[in-house]
Amino acid sequence: MKFLLWICVFFIGLSQGYVRLTNLKCESLDKSYIDFPECRLKVLGRGIIGANIHVKLLKIPVNKMIIRFITYRKLSGYHPFLFNVSKDLCRTLKYPNRQDVFYYVYRAFLPFSNLNHTCPYNNDVYVKNCTLDERMFSKVPLPKGTYLLTLEMNDGIINWVSIVSVYFDIDMD
Ligand SMILES: *[C@@H]1O[C@H](CO)[C@@H](O)[C@H](O)[C@H]1NC(C)=O
Ligand SMILES: *[C@@H]1O[C@H](CO)[C@@H](O)[C@H](O)[C@H]1NC(C)=O
Ligand SMILES: *[C@@H]1O[C@H](CO)[C@@H](O)[C@H](O)[C@H]1NC(C)=O
Repeated sequence: MKFLLWICVFFIGLSQGYVRLTNLKCESLDKSYIDFPECRLKVLGRGIIGANIHVKLLKIPVNKMIIRFITYRKLSGYHPFLFNVSKDLCRTLKYPNRQDVFYYVYRAFLPFSNLNHTCPYNNDVYVKNCTLDERMFSKVPLPKGTYLLTLEMNDGIINWVSIVSVYFDIDMD
């Protein structure tokens, strides 16, 4: 019994060590639309790093939001790698699609956020103690390396209003 427990703890420990946040940046391109009073990584425990973001939406209600996420892999400098996807966030949340990798990333992210409903958004958005989960990557096994994910938001008209950059390391082999 004790042995089983130990194995369990061992694997949980390992899996958390495998995908690790290293840096976080939130940039508002339109301070009249969006602002980030908080955007930082916090040490939650040994080797466990959580992201904390407070998003202030200043033109509420938000009924339209296009997001674009791009993943980069670092070789010599960061190069686009694998994903460059744009989504109508409101529509995607209204009609979730299990075939879509975005669905899995969103589902894994939900427990850490109050973004668990579809549009309109009338409140500030919080992300609290968000850790990356290796389950996010089980559908998309990424090779060991250093990555950057950028999440850009567009007000749904033509204006890119913000960029969130998430830097992380993966070591899954
Ligand atoms: C986030 O983690 C910190 C440090 O471990 C803890 O004090 C805090 O209560 C956590 N917040 C939430 C919302 O889980
Ligand atoms: C991502 O795709 C958009 C639209 O196709 C393109 O304009 C943009 O240059 C691409 N960005 C990167 C970093 O590849
Ligand atoms: C969304 O999250 C809030 C706070 O965590 C919770 O009170 C609420 O029931 C959740 N709503 C849905 C639809 O899951």
